[in-house]
Amino acid sequence: MRLSKSSTLLAMALCICAVSGSPMASSQSQQAEETRDSRLFDLKLIPFLKFTVSPTECKAKSDNSSGICSGAEDCKGAGGKEDGTCANGYGVCCVYEKRCGGTVNKNITYLVNDAYPEPVKDIDNCQYNIEKANSDICQIRLDFLAMTLKGPTEETVCDKDTFTFVGTAGANPTVICGTNTGQHMYLDLAPGSSAARINIATTDKELDRSWRIKVTQIACNSPSKAPSNCLQYYTDYSGMISTFNYNSESGTHQLAEQRYTICIKTREGFCGIRYSADSFSLSGDGDLSDAEKSGDVDCVADYVLIPSMNKDGTVDKKDRFCGNAFTEFVTYSQPFEVRVVTDGLEDSATDPKNKGFSMRYTQIPC
Ligand SMILES: *[C@@H]1O[C@H](CO)[C@@H](O)[C@H](O)[C@H]1NC(C)=O
Ligand SMILES: *[C@@H]1O[C@H](CO)[C@@H](O)[C@H](O)[C@H]1NC(C)=O
Repeated sequence: MRLSKSSTLLAMALCICAVSGSPMASSQSQQAEETRDSRLFDLKLIPFLKFTVSPTECKAKSDNSSGICSGAEDCKGAGGKEDGTCANGYGVCCVYEKRCGGTVNKNITYLVNDAYPEPVKDIDNCQYNIEKANSDICQIRLDFLAMTLKGPTEETVCDKDTFTFVGTAGANPTVICGTNTGQHMYLDLAPGSSAARINIATTDKELDRSWRIKVTQIACNSPSKAPSNCLQYYTDYSGMISTFNYNSESGTHQLAEQRYTICIKTREGFCGIRYSADSFSLSGDGDLSDAEKSGDVDCVADYVLIPSMNKDGTVDKKDRFCGNAFTEFVTYSQPFEVRVVTDGLEDSATDPKNKGFSMRYTQIPC
């Protein structure tokens, strides 16, 4: 009979188990349980036995980052960092973190600036390559756990620092800059082996920048995959949505040349959605007027587009909104989507104080 080396070892392991386990099994005392547990634990220390742990998500001991439960050698071999244990001690929680120049090829990987958590002050062009963890990956999600770059200056296109993603299946997403901590993005990857990458450019020495971005790979048939062309995707019953670089502080500004869709997953038993604004200034002078505008005559350059429909299917409202105020409303048009559009002109003459928006959505039962 031919036995592979590993199955021989497995047979030996089962043997050791059976030999040490059976006398204990007949005893019912607590003490015996403990002894058996500690003998089982000893199995891990037999050097030629190799255990396979299933690669599930685990929490790192030091800071609750997400890692992948792996064998200690596999973790080291793949460039991960051991941070706590998992699978009852048979595996290590393996956290993948990459600095500039690094390549992402594992499911959950954190991208940080060099010297993180110390900030960067230099002029630099930091690049990360994004490779699929396996051929069945269709999408990635980026969570900006921390993301502080220089914001737009006078002309307010991202003319200094930039965050750019290239290599998506469709058009590359909007370039962003400024403060985007708490924001996220979903990106569809091209089929086959795609060559996607992230570029983060820092352009002067005036400011501290830092970032920590969680990259999650999403399988083509995963229920957590966002519909394609949704740069942002929210799945809760209610929540806040805001434009990139939205910040309640004065002096911050909405970004120019934005063109993307925020999607909200319709929860079962829900048919409508209410939008209300905590803050809304998209066009005109955010300080001087409270004008609320809608429709495609008044809202041409900078606006949000929210398809509106009453519960009975009739439509009596325009779908573009701009100006400096927004009155809450309910729409039953599905899928729930908010399209964000700004042009390239966000300068001090035409749009001096526009900050973008921070809005709440709440789904409404059928
Ligand atoms: C990790 O999360 C747990 C539970 O939420 C919390 O009690 C603990 O303080 C966290 N640890 C760190 C290092 O953040
Ligand atoms: C990556 O990890 C996340 C979180 O655990 C999980 O939901 C997702 O399915 C994983 N992706 C793949 C391709 O295994």
